[in-house]
Amino acid sequence: MTMQRHETIRKPAAPGDAPNLRDYDATRAAFDWADAEREIDWLPDGGLNLAYEAIDRHVAHGNGAKPAMLWEGKNGEKETYTYEEMRRESNRFANVLAALGVRKGDRVFTFMERVPEIYFAVFGALKAGCVAGPLFSAFGPDPVKDRLEDSGAKVLVTQPELRAKIAEVIPQLPELERVIVVNKNERSKEPLAPGDLDYGALMREASPDFALIGATRDDYSLMHYTSGTTGKPKGAVHRHNAVIQHYLTGKWCLDLRPSDVYWCTADPGWVTGTSYGMSAPWTNGVTQVIYEGGFNARKWWQILQDYNVNVWYTAPTAIRMLMKSGAGLPQTFDLSSLRFAASVGEPLNPEAVEWGVEAIGMPFHDNWWQTETGGIMIANYASADIRPGSMGKPLPGVHPGIIDAEGNELPDGKEGNLAVRAPWPSMFQTYWRQQERYDSRFVNGWYVTGDEAVRDADGYYWFIGRSDDVINTAGHLVGPFEVESALIEHPAVAEAGVIGKPDPIAMEVVKAFVSLKDGYEPSDALRRELTGFAREKLAAAVAPREIEIIPSLPKTRSGKIMRRLLKARELGLDEGDTSTLEED
Ligand code: PRX
Repeated sequence: MTMQRHETIRKPAAPGDAPNLRDYDATRAAFDWADAEREIDWLPDGGLNLAYEAIDRHVAHGNGAKPAMLWEGKNGEKETYTYEEMRRESNRFANVLAALGVRKGDRVFTFMERVPEIYFAVFGALKAGCVAGPLFSAFGPDPVKDRLEDSGAKVLVTQPELRAKIAEVIPQLPELERVIVVNKNERSKEPLAPGDLDYGALMREASPDFALIGATRDDYSLMHYTSGTTGKPKGAVHRHNAVIQHYLTGKWCLDLRPSDVYWCTADPGWVTGTSYGMSAPWTNGVTQVIYEGGFNARKWWQILQDYNVNVWYTAPTAIRMLMKSGAGLPQTFDLSSLRFAASVGEPLNPEAVEWGVEAIGMPFHDNWWQTETGGIMIANYASADIRPGSMGKPLPGVHPGIIDAEGNELPDGKEGNLAVRAPWPSMFQTYWRQQERYDSRFVNGWYVTGDEAVRDADGYYWFIGRSDDVINTAGHLVGPFEVESALIEHPAVAEAGVIGKPDPIAMEVVKAFVSLKDGYEPSDALRRELTGFAREKLAAAVAPREIEIIPSLPKTRSGKIMRRLLKARELGLDEGDTSTLEED
């Protein structure tokens, strides 16, 4: 096939190391989700609770003393929690919520760094029957306000500096009843804002025993906001049932085994950080490393070495940044514990897959999924040959296809929309309070992903691009509308159009075109001011890296800004059909 430019990386026919999925084709042919359902623990009343499955179950099976979390703070602090301690802390938080009058179905959001308390809060919320919504700590006030407002969150758990960053929006949220502040630094305790509650004080009073609020497999569990082309981000809502797929994909796609030490570099503010930073690893009973700090090549290799990490799940931008610092660097560390490395979130270029072999003695295993799919759908497996640049093959039990606009399946080798036959266990259940937008994602029994792809004759899937204007920058999906809305709040800006500009490391960077209101002149100073303005409102990760001031933006006759044309111009491409362009 034309899409394969690099040589296949062969895996041993019968890996001596006994991976969890020994024979992909045979397993796929015989697969039945009921088998996976038998591998997890249902509650005595037939219910299912993700928190119980991830934590309490291991205590019930006699593994309470096993370390679940090895936490390292950004200043080198270290804390370890066993499964029993995780059970008790999450129970305490569930009791805190119950005492505050929080009820089943209420939304409990977190706006926190990667500290142990975010895990206690999320699991505690799930035990109390709430819908947990973790927000990315780098967000500025605008994205936080939009998400809390849309979800109608009743409780927010946050930390002092993050609380200060969003102080102005808290009074604008009538449905938000409680703000709980986690202050890890007891010595420098600042007084709480009036009405706020102190996490430490509440937890000290709370019992470590909690009678789980019964959840059925269909009850809502977690929600993550995700960006589309139009409108504000939508809350993709998941149910406890997703844990079945988290468990299975942890085992088959990440090759997790109970004796493993595992490190997922994603933040819980994004779906990878919950499905594969909470649910999959802990349902598989592993010991998980959680590092609060950000990217630093030397530090990352150090973590892999010092914690004897066996399985590592990271992202293409990080891998490309590691590549920049050279294959020599990891070779100065002892990475002999590392057995499996995987990647998600953006296309993983074949050079990066192969670089893994050179730098760490194994390829990176790319896999594909989305916020909406809730769990891994297409993957490269420990036992299967890798075609570098391909996302791999579908998880047994998952049936993707390439379809045209009408929902007809296309043959192998034809590019089209990547779709998946609905349902599967971790499929999202709705977009919060936007059922119509949810329904619009399904055609002819297919869930349409918004990605374009092609399948080769041997069943490998190859990513082509997005079919919409959503930008993927360093693995973060950015909706152009959200950025445009922030920019036009600046008094100088008349209109804004935002696109993704290709970038060798981050895949795309956010670029904004703006036109100015009368009385304002383009200047470097104004461009810098706009950049700072957007960063403060949104987040550095989401704000435009580049801003170009132009006299006017191309629009359709109905007044819609033509982002595709801005992009074509930026890339020096054929501008295509411009017949609906505004006449100047
Ligand atoms: O465009 C695809 C890209 O990231 C999108 C999903 O992003 P999000 O909902 O934030 O979920 C991130 C956690 C998986 C997809 O629609 N994407 C994800 N994985 C890959 C990918 N693009 C290419 N190759 C991948 N392996």
